[in-house]
Amino acid sequence: MHIQVNVNGEMREADVEPRLLLVHFIRDYLGLTGTHWGCDTSNCGACTVHLDGEPVKSCTILAVRADGHEVTTIEGIWSGTGLTPVQEGFHEEHGLQCGFCTPGMIMTATALLERNPDPTEEEIRAAISGNLCRCTGYENIIRAVRWAADHRTAREEVSA
Ligand code: FES
Ligand code: FES
Repeated sequence: MHIQVNVNGEMREADVEPRLLLVHFIRDYLGLTGTHWGCDTSNCGACTVHLDGEPVKSCTILAVRADGHEVTTIEGIWSGTGLTPVQEGFHEEHGLQCGFCTPGMIMTATALLERNPDPTEEEIRAAISGNLCRCTGYENIIRAVRWAADHRTAREEVSA
C-alpha cells in the first residue's frame, strides 16, 4: 500500500506492506531511530510517538493507520532554539541512566503537559505508567516532569 504521512512536519511517503508496524516505518523506512523498539508487545512504551498529538505506542499501530495523519517523533519535538522544558527537566533532574526508555518517556511527558500543565505526582505516575524504566526507579523521572511543568509555566508567564 502507498502511504503518505506527515512526520515531524515533513510529508513522507512509501510503499509498505499492510502488516508493517508504525515503529518499523519510522525506524527502518525513515531512519528516525530515536524512537526505540523495546518489547514489541505494547508493554514498555519505548516506541511512544505522537499520532495527531496523542501519545501512542507505535508498535501497536500499523503504518497504514498513519496514512494521512501527523506523526511526531522524539526528533520532531526539538524547538529549533534549544531543548524543550521536558528535555531540560530530564537533564536537570538526571531522569535517565541508560537512556533506552527516555525518548518514549519524553514523548509521554510532553503530551501530559500539553493537556495538563500542572500535574500532581499521582497524575505524572499515572501518565507514565505505560512506560517502563529498568534503571532509575522512576523518582528522578517524576522530578524531571515536575521540573518541566514548573519551568514551562514560568516561561509562559515571561513571554505573556
Ligand atoms: S516496543 Fe512498543 S511498547 Fe515496547
Ligand atoms: S534509563 Fe534505562 S531504561 Fe530508563
